[in-house]
Amino acid sequence: MSQQLSPNATPATARYSVLQARLHWMVVVLVLLQFLLQGAMVDTMVAVRAGDTPGAGAYLLANLHLLSGLVIGFLMAFRLYLRLDASASRFKDLAVQGSPGSLALAATVVHGLFYLLLLTMPISGLSAWYEVPGAAWVHGWQKIALLALLLLHIAAALLHLCLLRDGVFQRILRVR
Ligand code: HEM
Ligand code: HEM
Repeated sequence: MSQQLSPNATPATARYSVLQARLHWMVVVLVLLQFLLQGAMVDTMVAVRAGDTPGAGAYLLANLHLLSGLVIGFLMAFRLYLRLDASASRFKDLAVQGSPGSLALAATVVHGLFYLLLLTMPISGLSAWYEVPGAAWVHGWQKIALLALLLLHIAAALLHLCLLRDGVFQRILRVR
């Protein structure tokens, strides 16, 4: 049943664990790092494909992109485990609680796609690194999908914070 969007509509009483909130923000920082390092990674690959030796600085930063990307994959797998773990069922996607029906469905889809993208980007990235044909193309399109999701996600977060004022934003800010 759909509910009307109105300020303070449904107070969000359910909460993520502190661990989940910390993992969320750790991944945000690492994804930001991936975007800061993308130029060095692309430069390195262009040099390798042209048969040149990449610059030492760019190569180092490209390796950091590799490492950070793998860490993101592991952290997302751990977050998924936290949500799938039956004993932690209260930590499942909380989008269904505290949001009007259609917004909750959109949030669940966006959150699910984040998991799908951030679990598969390390695979396409590693494949691109080892020059598997088409992998760099897939990785590039995943980047665009990630940016689009991020725009929607931030807009929704601000909607909750500024218009709905229902506590949904605050539940991912937990520090203790
Ligand atoms: C790369 C960046 C981001 C990714 C991949 C991401 C991903 C996610 C995911 C998957 C969830 C669901 C909870 C979970 O499974 O742990 C979530 C929740 C949330 N995120 Fe993000 N997020 C990002 C950035 C941000 C930013 C920048 C903000 C704030 C402006 C934000 C605000 C929120 C809020 C408020 C929730 C709680 C939503 C709810 O409980 O329904 N996120 N995020
Ligand atoms: C979730 C983790 C990751 C994110 C968010 C990410 C993000 C990005 C972004 C934004 C680009 C620029 C793409 C473009 O402009 O076309 C890029 C390029 C690249 N990334 Fe990643 N990356 C991740 C993981 C990895 C991993 C683990 C590797 C392994 C080495 C990797 C290897 C590459 C390579 C080789 C390129 C250059 C592709 C080309 O030749 O154009 N990435 N990445």
